[in-house]
Parts: sequence; C-alpha cells; structure tokens
Amino acid sequence: MRSDESFFAICPRGLEDHLAHELVACGANGCKTEPGGVAFAGTLKVAYAANLHSRLASRILWRVLRTRYADEDDVYAAARSVEWEAWFGADELLRVDLTATRTPLRSREFATLRIKDGIVDRLREKTGARPSIDRANPDVRVFAHLSADTLDLYLDLSGEALFKRGWRADKGEAPLKENLAAGLLALAGWTPAIPLLDPFCGSGTIAIEAAAIAARSAPGLTRRFAFERLRGFEHTAWKDLLGAARAAIDQRAAVLILGSDISTQVIELARRNAGLAGLEAWLSDGRLRLQAGDARAVAPPADTGLIVANPPYGEQSAPKSAPVARLMSDLAGNLKRSFGGWTAWLLSADLDLPRQLRLKETRRTVLFNGPLECRFFRFELVTGGYRQSGAERRES
Ligand SMILES: C[S@@+](CC[C@H](N)C(=O)[O-])C[C@H]1O[C@@H](n2cnc3c(N)ncnc32)[C@H](O)[C@@H]1O
Repeated sequence: MRSDESFFAICPRGLEDHLAHELVACGANGCKTEPGGVAFAGTLKVAYAANLHSRLASRILWRVLRTRYADEDDVYAAARSVEWEAWFGADELLRVDLTATRTPLRSREFATLRIKDGIVDRLREKTGARPSIDRANPDVRVFAHLSADTLDLYLDLSGEALFKRGWRADKGEAPLKENLAAGLLALAGWTPAIPLLDPFCGSGTIAIEAAAIAARSAPGLTRRFAFERLRGFEHTAWKDLLGAARAAIDQRAAVLILGSDISTQVIELARRNAGLAGLEAWLSDGRLRLQAGDARAVAPPADTGLIVANPPYGEQSAPKSAPVARLMSDLAGNLKRSFGGWTAWLLSADLDLPRQLRLKETRRTVLFNGPLECRFFRFELVTGGYRQSGAERRES
C-alpha cells in the first residue's frame, strides 16, 4: 500500500480544524485545512479509517491526478490520461461533479462534459464499452476541481454522504445533518462526563450523536462505502479496521443526555431513531432521555452542564408554540431562573438571537447549516442574569 496518497475530506465550513484532529487520529499526515475541508496524505487504509471514524466529514475523496491546464482540451486530455480502469469498468454507473475557483474556462458545464468524455473515451478504448451516466444513483463518483491553472481529479471513496449514519427513520422538521450536530458538540467542548441537554431536540440528532460518541461507536459501522466496490479494494485492511472499531464500543459508558421537544410526534420519531441507532438500552436505563416538554419550562437534569441546540428561527416554530421572538424571550426567563451554572450553545441563522434572549454571548462562531450562514452562540448562565467573560468574546 502506498503511504503518500493524497486525499481531501469535505466538511461543513467552520469545522475544518476539528476535522483535521479527527483525521490525525485516523493516521493522516500533512493535514492542511481549506475552507470547507482538509487535504491530507496517507495510505488507503487511513482513508478507509477516515470514512469509518470521522463524525465531521461529509465525504472523503482520493486525488488521482493533479495537473496544469489552460483550456478545455487540456481538461479532456487529463481526464483521459487517468487509469480509471484500475478502479472501475464500463458496467458501473458514473457521475461527475465539478467545482471551480478562479477558473479561466467560460462554462463549468462544458468543462464537466469534457471530463466525462475523457473518462468514457478512456474506458471505451481500454474495455470496448462505455459506462453510462447516472446522476441520481451512481456507482462511481468523480469530483473535479479547477483552480486558476490546476486541475485536480478525485475518486469519491464515500458514496452516500458520510452524515448518513444509517439510523434515521424519518426526517422530522428541519433536522440537523449528523456531522453538523457532531460539530456543534465538538465546538461546545462537550465530553461524556458533562450532562447534556437539547431542549429543542426534534428528531434527536444532537442527543443521538452524543450518545454514539459516549459509546465510542464509529459512525460508519452500519453503512457501506463506495470504496468497497472499487477494484483494488483492500479487504484485509478494511476487516482489521472494522474489527477494531467493533471491539472499541462501550455500551456501558456513564453519561446523562436529555433531549426534549414540544412535539410529542417528533419525540416519538427521536426515540425510534435512537432505537435504530442501537441505543435502546440507553433509553431504558435513562442515560439517554428523549421526552416531550416545553423549552420554556424544562428543568435542568443536573446542577451544571451544557445546553446544545438549534432552536426554531424565522417562521419555523412548528408546532407554533409562540412567535419565535417571544419564545426566545420566555426561554431566556427559564434559563435565567433555573440554569445558573450551565453554559448554553445555540445555533441560529438569526443574528438577533442574543437580543431576543436579552443575554450577551461570550462567543460566536460562524457555521454553515447547508447553504445557510449561521452563528453558534455561547451564553454562560448565572441565576437571575448572565456572566460575560469579556476578553473571550470574539467572532471566529
Ligand atoms: C430547528 S428544529 C430542531 C431540529 C433538531 N436539531 C433535529 O436535528 O431534528 C426546532 C425544534 O424546536 C421545537 N420547538 C418549537 N417550539 C418549542 C418549545 N416551546 N419547546 C420545545 N421545543 C420547541 C420544534 O418542534 C422543532 O422540532
């Protein structure tokens, strides 16, 4: 196995540094963060491990070519020069995606087409047959990135996006992606020793992700990956990784995680999701509690702990418990009354949230929930008011 392969891990913007830490733990070398991801080097086994263990990555790509280009003909020739037949054949369904920054080429669509033509012509030349294109359900995905004068071609190792852990029964209202939920927990500095509350838990994403972290359960254990279908797949390395990941699971971890939501319907869904995530026993013995309740009246499950949540914003309060501004003001009343000693981390696209809460945030971090630019606000709570560690206030 070559030890100097190049990879790129994609993640939601704002989580790059934490992703780099995860990748190092998987054995990655030379991590270099870029907006929206981390470039790294290592063996293919490291990339398999990143697929299996990363909670923050959306996808792991294997860079199969880096070359200079000036026009569309160069792009076609580059795509045709790669030994695609080493990884897949004409019977696989193909999809090509392209991103570009500062490219001189006029049309990204045409550049994408030329890359697709290069791959298809290569395979026809080598195998006598053309692969078909299928954007909805591809077997193989190729990603291309054009910068001002450099073309990178990547083979996707993940397949379905990595935030799909394989446990979600149904979506509920505006669920967070699992990797963003894990990112919130990482940014908040949550560890299993700290009691955790999500008073707007919806389908339970944050609570379930936290329980899985406490259980040391690798997020990719129950799903399949694109690399398993590629020619040259290293079965033994993968079996070793799976065996070690299964052995690491701790079903008895001591932890207290509470998720509540005003909607009994979504709580049912959250409990179903937790069951599908293998957390039935945690629900039964109360280490993971998912229960109906109004955030304006929820009681703290411990003297101190972390609140991590994405409350409704804009028009999105369903079922409509109150207009959002009033809901936030009432929530603040409860936080000030009952949650002294706790720290609350709230994700919102609404920059007005601190004013609605009449609390001063001690930190705000820019994060993207899909295309939506959000802030992740930290509030330190003291009974009857708030505390501000002024020097620490910053936007990152
Ligand atoms: C943005 S969603 C949270 C989604 C959740 N993080 C997930 O991944 O599924 C906001 C949630 O707040 C709930 N909600 C609205 N008003 C509430 C209230 N007064 N108390 C508790 N939950 C409330 C809604 O039912 C909705 O599920």
